[in-house]
Amino acid sequence: MNKTIIAGIGKYVPENVVTNEDLTRVMDTSDAWIQERTGICERRYATRFEETTATIGANAARLAMERAGVEPADIDFIIFATLSPDYFFPGCGVLVQRLLGLKEVGALDVRNQCSGFVYALSIGDQFIKTGMYKNILVIGAEVHSYALDFSTRGRNVSVIFGDGAGAVILQPSPSADRGILSTHLHSDGANAEILSMPNPGFHAGVHNSKWKPPVPEKPYGDMFITQELLDKEDIFPYMDGQAVFKKAVVKMPEVIYEALNQNGYQPSDLTLFVPHQANLRIAQFIQQQLGIKDGQVFNNIQKYGNTTAASVPIALCEAWEEGKIKEGDLVCLAAFGAGFTWGSALIRW
Ligand SMILES: CC(C)(COP(=O)(O)OP(=O)(O)OC[C@H]1O[C@@H](n2cnc3c(N)ncnc32)[C@H](O)[C@@H]1OP(=O)(O)O)[C@@H](O)C(=O)NCCC(=O)NCCS
Repeated sequence: MNKTIIAGIGKYVPENVVTNEDLTRVMDTSDAWIQERTGICERRYATRFEETTATIGANAARLAMERAGVEPADIDFIIFATLSPDYFFPGCGVLVQRLLGLKEVGALDVRNQCSGFVYALSIGDQFIKTGMYKNILVIGAEVHSYALDFSTRGRNVSVIFGDGAGAVILQPSPSADRGILSTHLHSDGANAEILSMPNPGFHAGVHNSKWKPPVPEKPYGDMFITQELLDKEDIFPYMDGQAVFKKAVVKMPEVIYEALNQNGYQPSDLTLFVPHQANLRIAQFIQQQLGIKDGQVFNNIQKYGNTTAASVPIALCEAWEEGKIKEGDLVCLAAFGAGFTWGSALIRW
């Protein structure tokens, strides 16, 4: 079977820089608190009424296509990972098909939050390996800023997230040695609501969880969004940060070792580990557990915050642009997020 290479990679981050200091003007927080707990100094917010998840995803895709030397007519499948789609439906994949003038190819949206790009990469890898497609466009993009709670109540979530997009073009590898060596995907829905945005939604209050109480009973047609939810402003993302942190620092190393073990490698063999940019403290903890040097890990959360499905391709792209990834290098991607879902990919670049 063919291996899959990343033939081109691109990223796009909105111009609008929002510093920690800027956030102190709208909520009770501080630059010191945010930096100490998360490592984040600033993030980008999309330009309102101009940019959306689909448009910034398309921007990243254009660059990835240019770098891969492919034209719109060459793309034969689209995979779009996001938790912040422009529309509840249809997904962003078809919007990108329209924006980029792609052929009437398949377009798949992946709803796996922070691990969305690793999941999307794994799906694309299967289609290339079997020979079904030759040029797959994989995008991870998010616009969080349009729907965060910027009051003090929402500060534990709002200070973390930023907007951005990354994209890759997957192609069959020209050599048996190069390409994606393996991908590993996992989930555990036991505490799905621990990091979630249940409202508005179709859940009908059915999932009675200790993390989120069910909504009051409503007639058909009024169950998706209610006036009470709007009045209570219960329409924002919810996160128990400490619970997420505890699970992430166990599951990320586990899934990295799973990839290394399957391919007979040690952490010391890695040229570069590109973790999902959730929190600098999580990345540092994992680095310590793997026993790898600073030069073997790439972090850029300081500049962009957590861009969920976009974080891995943005970081991968930036590492590649800085010359930290070259042909033949061993690169590991790993992500953990809402669901919980997590995954890894090991790549001989
Ligand atoms: C979110 C996170 C930074 C919070 O750090 P923490 O040390 O767990 O902080 P806590 O939530 O326990 O809150 C500690 C205090 O800081 C306060 N606080 C929360 N957010 C704050 C903010 N932005 N600014 C100032 N204070 C804040 C809390 O209200 C709390 O105050 P209290 O002690 O008076 O009640 C941390 O839990 C985290 O990063 N978790 C992982 C999140 C993650 O990675 N999510 C994405 C998954 S992919």
